Amino acid sequence: MKTLPKLFENNRAWAASVIAEDPDFFPNLSQQQNPEYLWIGCSDSRVPANQVVGLAPGEVFVHRNIANVVTHTDINCLSVLEYAVNVLQVKHVIVCGHYGCGGVMAALQDHHLGLIDNWLCHVRDVRRNHEKQLVAVEDETERTNRLCELNVIEQVRNVCATTIVQGCWEKGNPLAVHGWIYGIEDGLLRDLDVTITEQVDVAEAYRIATRK
Ligand code: CO
Repeated sequence: MKTLPKLFENNRAWAASVIAEDPDFFPNLSQQQNPEYLWIGCSDSRVPANQVVGLAPGEVFVHRNIANVVTHTDINCLSVLEYAVNVLQVKHVIVCGHYGCGGVMAALQDHHLGLIDNWLCHVRDVRRNHEKQLVAVEDETERTNRLCELNVIEQVRNVCATTIVQGCWEKGNPLAVHGWIYGIEDGLLRDLDVTITEQVDVAEAYRIATRK
């Protein structure tokens, strides 16, 4: 258990297959990264950012946490966002949730799980904001999935409200913030139609996306 030989074996095979296709791949990538996208997703092992959108190393900057939460006091998330927007100058921020998210499910239930309850308070806030709509959904799976979607939409709004994104738009730099959701059962992404490209879009996009 002190070493994981299988993973190193996998790694050597992977590196060799990449080099076989493009001998300059790693030397080129070592010089710079130039991703166009920042992915903010859930830590869930079934939603790996690069694979889901078919992008190679170097093409997507990634931040993941439980239930893809963006909160204005999270120095980790804000640092990633600032670096992506101001230094790497990504053109798209994608908040991607997924159906059947365990974090969202826990936020819908009132069980105490421990430390994570504090983190999931952010998702419980989303639940409270849309309580009326959620209680009207009778099927439990459907209710969870709607909260998964609403959580993405709320986090898109949080991304847009940061000084980082606001500052980017004030300078006239192009930046689109997207809200997507991934189906673990079929491997497909859905666009929640909440893409925001400038400050004036925020309230309207939120209103349309959250109504039922
Ligand atoms: Co999840």
